[in-house]
Amino acid sequence: MKEIDWSNLSFGYMKTDYNVRINFRDGAWGELEVSSSEYLNLHMAATCLHYGQEAFEGLKAFRGKDGRVRIFRLEENAARLQATCQGIMMAELPTARFKEAILKVVKLNERFIPPYETGASLYIRPLLIGTGAQVGVRPASEYMFVVFVTPVGPYFKGGFSTNPYVIIREYDRAAPHGTGTFKVGGNYAASLRANKKAHDLGYSCEFYLDAKEKKYIDECGAANFFGIKDNTYITPKSSSILPSITNKSLMQLAEDMGLKVERRPVPEEELATFEEAGACGTAAVISPIERIDDLENGKSYVISKDGKPGPICTKLYNKLRAIQYGDEPDTHGWVTIVE
Ligand SMILES: Cc1ncc(COP(=O)(O)O)c(C=O)c1O
Repeated sequence: MKEIDWSNLSFGYMKTDYNVRINFRDGAWGELEVSSSEYLNLHMAATCLHYGQEAFEGLKAFRGKDGRVRIFRLEENAARLQATCQGIMMAELPTARFKEAILKVVKLNERFIPPYETGASLYIRPLLIGTGAQVGVRPASEYMFVVFVTPVGPYFKGGFSTNPYVIIREYDRAAPHGTGTFKVGGNYAASLRANKKAHDLGYSCEFYLDAKEKKYIDECGAANFFGIKDNTYITPKSSSILPSITNKSLMQLAEDMGLKVERRPVPEEELATFEEAGACGTAAVISPIERIDDLENGKSYVISKDGKPGPICTKLYNKLRAIQYGDEPDTHGWVTIVE
């Protein structure tokens, strides 16, 4: 095999040796199958193709200094996938089966897990799709769960740093009681135009306001938002955002550090009052925010006055990464060690 250039990995697809699959047929999940094919053989009337019965997850495995491999919060990802399946009426995969598949695919692709020193990791992408044929709009009776992995580089190649973000008012990602809380492909299709606009304008990512009133901060393209002020970690409560597992973890760590934690609607104007803010998710853990512009309102909320990540963001980031890589004790039981 060609040597992998660990230091130049991006967040992209790289073929690995194996993926794993479990099929749901006749009302039950079958045996786990190992495949080396990158392709799925699908019925052309499968509901995932026509009616969006498609859910995915994203989590990571990290190789520690001790050489051991740790997967971060896999039970939480299993639970979120189950919630998504309920949301779009797909068969739910039990946590034990999710865990079996993730451990198997990580072990089978062990040689793709980046060395500790690189700051890179193994991204794990579970996918659950409706494979049964339907022509009318109805849930399928057959499903497939697939998991593949791909090594990804450290998010901050030049070191932990801040980025500018922009509020896009023109497009909504999800409606208040729509599918925003679920990790379904349709939400990402709905975000593509806003994301392109943000990138074309030179921003790191787009921000969404609540779709109903356009008053409150919802989330970024693929990350939750949090702000810090007066020793308090504040993050939006909304019926249209994805419950981020990173955000949930950061709320716990913030509490452990003696910060107050508030989950509540965050009006846009409140951005002006934050001492620090970040976008949080599996990809970056925390991407500290330099400023958020609202072009249509002619406003610019500068959060980092010196352009650098703030002390609390830095502390939270370092703490979470240390747990993921096994540099610090896993006191909350967030990590599954691959034996
Ligand atoms: C829309 C959206 N919000 C938030 C997140 C962050 O969630 P997590 O921390 O579980 O990765 C993601 C992606 O991962 C996302 O796609």
